[in-house]
Order: sequence, then C-alpha cells, then structure tokens
Amino acid sequence: MMTLVKSYDEMSDAAADIFAAQVKGKPDSVLGLATGTTPIGLYGRLAKLHRDAGLDFSAVRTVNLDEYCSLPAEHENSYRYFMNTQLFDHINIDKRNTFLPDGTASDFEAECRQYDARIDQLGGIDMQLLGIGNNGHIGFNEPAGYFANRTHRVRLTESTINANSRLFESVVEMPLYALTMGIRQIMLAREIVLIAAADKREIVTEALEGEITPQVPASILQVHPRLTVILAEN
Ligand code: GLP
Repeated sequence: MMTLVKSYDEMSDAAADIFAAQVKGKPDSVLGLATGTTPIGLYGRLAKLHRDAGLDFSAVRTVNLDEYCSLPAEHENSYRYFMNTQLFDHINIDKRNTFLPDGTASDFEAECRQYDARIDQLGGIDMQLLGIGNNGHIGFNEPAGYFANRTHRVRLTESTINANSRLFESVVEMPLYALTMGIRQIMLAREIVLIAAADKREIVTEALEGEITPQVPASILQVHPRLTVILAEN
C-alpha cells in the first residue's frame, strides 16, 4: 500500500501511528529498525509518545538493519550511537534487548551468522522499518547481481559513500564496509514500513513500479504481502 503524504512531518506522523499501534497491540514486538536522516522524525515522535502518553517499550526487542565496519559504539557516526541518541535513550527500552551487528568484530563471518541466529531466536521481525538509498539499497544491500540472503559484509558503493559521507567530518573517515541484514530476513518480516522523503520519490517509484531486480534491491519489496510505503511529496 502506498500512501502519499504532503510533507516529511506528515510522513513521520503516519509512521509513528503505525509503530505505536504495533507496540500497543503487541508489547513484546520485535521491531526491525533503520538509521539515516529519514527516520529521525519518526523516532522523535515515538520518544514523545513515550514521554507524554506513556507508550511502553519495556518489553520491546529491536534489531537494526546494519552497522558500519570498524566504528566503535561510542563513535558518533556509528549506528549504535545513532540509535541510542535518537531513540533508545529517550524511551523505556531495555538496551540489552536492542541489537545491531557488531561492526568491530574481528571475525565478520561469525558475527554475521550470530546476527542471523539472533533474529531467529527472537522469533523473527514483527515490523521492519526501512528507508531507501538513492540507488535503491535497503539496509546496506547495495545493487548487485543477486539478492543476498543472509547477514553479510558489503563494500559500500560510490553512490552510498558520496551520500553518507556528508555526515562524517571528512570523506576519508567514512568506512568503506558495513555489515547488513540480508534481503531474506527483511522479506521474512511480518510487516514492512518503508518511509521516504521527497528526494527519494524517483527511486521509490522505480523500485515499486519497475522490474524486480537485484540491481534495485528495494524492488523485491513488491512481492511482500504486507508492505506500507509512506512517501512525502514535499
Ligand atoms: C543508509 C542506511 C539505510 C538508509 C539509507 C538512506 O545508507 N544504511 O538504511 O535507508 O542510508 O538514508 P537517508 O535516510 O539518510 O537518506
């Protein structure tokens, strides 16, 4: 289902309604979470709903899509740092129930297998939040010759490095590798919510109306049975 809304704020409101309803309906939900600029408004609203309306996250578990390789959790560009400062520090979640791949693990392969096992142990993802990259990536599943199943290490593409390096002090500080959930776990989520600001309009349209191809990783979402897309027009 595609919902067109007027603005970034309306997109964030609509997504917050969906996630709040999920948490109220199933207090021990497993939420798949995303980073990037796009979900900041949503996370702010969830924090506010906790503060002002008592939205209870005490039993919620979260798994994030991805993490940069080699950045420690305290690094302000790590996705762990982002999640703590944008959301977890402002709600009553038990941080021991919040999971991201460990980008500093020396054995990437073992870390990836452990992350997959973690998602399985949690019983899979009830609701997965997604943003989308300019090249159609979801998580850090970059355009490729095939849809990668499992959690894996990826080399980021030039497009992603150019887009994300804006958040680093300089481009040379941006890691070239990341660990990301695979397409399989994302597609196994019982429900998916993709949010996109106006600058992503073209790629969202291509992904949802074009050919299903691993060259546009988000295009696989077309076959998910419970997909909600919230796209801001302005
Ligand atoms: C990053 C993340 C993605 C995110 C995308 C878009 O690379 N790995 O999960 O969806 O970028 O980011 P933004 O919302 O900042 O445009």
